[in-house]
Amino acid sequence: MKLIYQLMISFFAVILTVIFIVGGTVLNYYSNYVYSNTFEQLTGYGQNAEQLVMSSETGVKGQYQISPSMIHKIEQVFTNQRVNFTIYSKADNESNDNVRVYPTDGDLGHRPMPDHLSKEYWSRLQKSEYIRDVSSSGKLLGGQQSPKGAQPQAYVVVPWFYQNKMFAAIVVSARVADIDSNIAQIESNLFVALIISLVLALILAYLLARYQVSRVNRVRHAAHEVADGNFDIDLPSKHRDEIDDLATDFNIMAKSLRDSQTEIERQEERRKEFMANAAHEMRTPLTTINGLLEGLAYDAIPEESKGKSIELMRGETKRLIRLVNDNLDYEKIRTGQIKLSRRQFDAMGPLHNIVTQLTKKAADAKDKLTLEGESPVSVYADYDRFVQIIFNVVQNAIQFTQDGQITIKAERGFHEAVFTVSDTGIGMTPDQVKNIWDRYYKADPSRKNTKYGESGLGLSIVHSLVKQHGGTIKVTSELHKGTTFKLTFPDATDADAMESASHRKRGA
Ligand SMILES: Nc1ncnc2c1ncn2[C@@H]1O[C@H](COP(=O)(O)OP(=O)(O)OP(=O)(O)O)[C@@H](O)[C@H]1O
Ligand SMILES: [Mg+2]
Repeated sequence: MKLIYQLMISFFAVILTVIFIVGGTVLNYYSNYVYSNTFEQLTGYGQNAEQLVMSSETGVKGQYQISPSMIHKIEQVFTNQRVNFTIYSKADNESNDNVRVYPTDGDLGHRPMPDHLSKEYWSRLQKSEYIRDVSSSGKLLGGQQSPKGAQPQAYVVVPWFYQNKMFAAIVVSARVADIDSNIAQIESNLFVALIISLVLALILAYLLARYQVSRVNRVRHAAHEVADGNFDIDLPSKHRDEIDDLATDFNIMAKSLRDSQTEIERQEERRKEFMANAAHEMRTPLTTINGLLEGLAYDAIPEESKGKSIELMRGETKRLIRLVNDNLDYEKIRTGQIKLSRRQFDAMGPLHNIVTQLTKKAADAKDKLTLEGESPVSVYADYDRFVQIIFNVVQNAIQFTQDGQITIKAERGFHEAVFTVSDTGIGMTPDQVKNIWDRYYKADPSRKNTKYGESGLGLSIVHSLVKQHGGTIKVTSELHKGTTFKLTFPDATDADAMESASHRKRGA
């Protein structure tokens, strides 16, 4: 079943239930009210009649006699109220029986009244009790069988007293049919109100259901949009209810899909770039080797140059091997396949070695290479990878500095070892700095320095390795002024230390 119908049915059911409960209560309350009001009125009439009788001169005071003509006159007054009076009086002074004194049998007409009141009624009346009741159809007052099949009556019996002695009782009665016709009027009014309310409820239920369904449909349409590849979705949400929450969640989902889509596109772009760069990097040495091999094959290379050609080919082959190895290395580091075996050691030792190894290279570039730092500078790292990192950074500094100064500084920071490599070389623009961690990136591809077989992989590997150590690498550079690399290696946490200890134990 469609949601709109489900919602309408539930709204409608609630409204219907409320209307029935309220309607029933109102009707019940009203009919009770009408009856008690009627009894109240009838009682009032009975008391008024008593006063009229007692004050009238024709009333024979103290003699317990009632003048029917007087009662008849009083009754005439109440004709409009459709009320009947019936009066019972003591049969005689001695016995406790009673007889109907008004109206006489001939004047009884349509009113179904017994000849005398029951003993039970009479004794209750003597105790000044007012009797209120409704006779059922076909029954007389007090439950006696009616000879003619009487109409139901609502009646009040009021005792009349003179000098503290009850001398008569008046039954003031009204036809139940008259009272019920009042109630029926209310019932029909209520029924009309009910029908109007139901129609309004139906319209309201429809509007409410349509509003909710439209909100759900908005999310549905958005889902279709996403399915069609459009992730630019922003559903309105006021955080009022679950549908709003759904819209918010949907927005979050669309955003993360959009982000992953962008990431996928970026990765794809990088993959393409990588393939192009890798192919380009390999083509140069391969072309050189191929050219030389062809020269050798067709004897186009003079005998004395052959040795040099072979040396050139070896160099190019080495470069290719390094390229492939670096790529493999980078992938392994990036995908976390390389396990670091970290330990705490004094960094000054390996730093001295690096300086020794690179002094010649620095001298070739007319650079001064100095190391600053007081042994021990404790660092927590994988020894070989640490050497690889610093070596790469220092080698870059030499590579891009002529006639300058290169300073390696080692010191302790807060729970970390800090190394800075600064040079007074060519420097970089902020734009170039942003990209140096990318694979195959060379700030200026024209300044090819084949001496070191530049491939633009060095810093990508360094970056990945430092990250794997949980450290940081930052660069500040100014064009034509120089560059400074700052590296930090955090100390071992307890967990790291335990891990490395267990590694060593397994290795031993
Ligand atoms: N100290 C530096 N001064 C100026 N530019 C630098 C410095 N270090 C790196 N760069 C720039 O960053 C680029 C990337 O460096 P990276 O070490 O990754 O590659 P490479 O040195 O060109 O090649 P490889 O190290 O793979 O042989 C360099 O080509 C250079 O443009
Ligand atoms: Mg390099």
